Amino acid sequence: MRTRFVVGNWKMNLLRGEALELIEALKSVDAVSHEHVSVVVCPPFTALSTLTEHGLQGIELGAQNCHVSQKGAFTGEVSAEMLRDVGCSYVIVGHSERRRDQHETDAEIGRKALHALQFGLRPIICVGEQLEERQSGMTHEVLHRQISEIIEAAGADVVSKSVIAYEPVWAIGTGLAATTEQAQDAHAAIRAHLDQHAVTHRVPLLYGGSVTAANAAGLFSCPDVDGALVGGASLKAMEFAQIVHAARDSTR
Ligand code: PGA
Repeated sequence: MRTRFVVGNWKMNLLRGEALELIEALKSVDAVSHEHVSVVVCPPFTALSTLTEHGLQGIELGAQNCHVSQKGAFTGEVSAEMLRDVGCSYVIVGHSERRRDQHETDAEIGRKALHALQFGLRPIICVGEQLEERQSGMTHEVLHRQISEIIEAAGADVVSKSVIAYEPVWAIGTGLAATTEQAQDAHAAIRAHLDQHAVTHRVPLLYGGSVTAANAAGLFSCPDVDGALVGGASLKAMEFAQIVHAARDSTR
């Protein structure tokens, strides 16, 4: 039985008290890990240690970014070792908002994944095409290029131990999720490309971009969709719980 992942990306939201309230609410509606479903939340850096100290019982912790170096003169940055130290098990790398705003490249994202794994964090590597790229029929080409460059920088072994999130940029925060056919097609293309690169282990592939309680079950029914990276809906306890429950139901 393959494991499903439901990962909440809280982005730049929630003060510590609000983060604690959300965790309590998630626990109370049973939005926690299960035998075949891993539930992960990725709060802002400022809430991480508060949540660890409070106790997460069945919810794993991830960060939204890390630097490529262990320590040093990098003002404003946070290393994978520091994230491990505050209780993280995962780290998102290469989110499209960071590709857009911090101009992160695939090579840099690959180096972040390598660094994260060296310090015991499992990277959640984001890839995905822009609207114009999809409209001009370049989706597979873009995914191939991104993954090839990440593998070149990180090595196939690192990618085989990571999680990959397919997040079409046009679907993020727009309410316009990919259809199940579009998601399955992109995931199958990613899997085929990983095979070509001798990534033999079955890498969990998550879909992200306007995932809601209403569309989660359909997405989880796709043979190559192993879970979801959830933004906006991860801030609403009941909605996130419904997504977690849909993941559980899909394993039965
Ligand atoms: P969204 O964000 O679910 O709000 O579209 C997903 C993401 O950015 O990871």
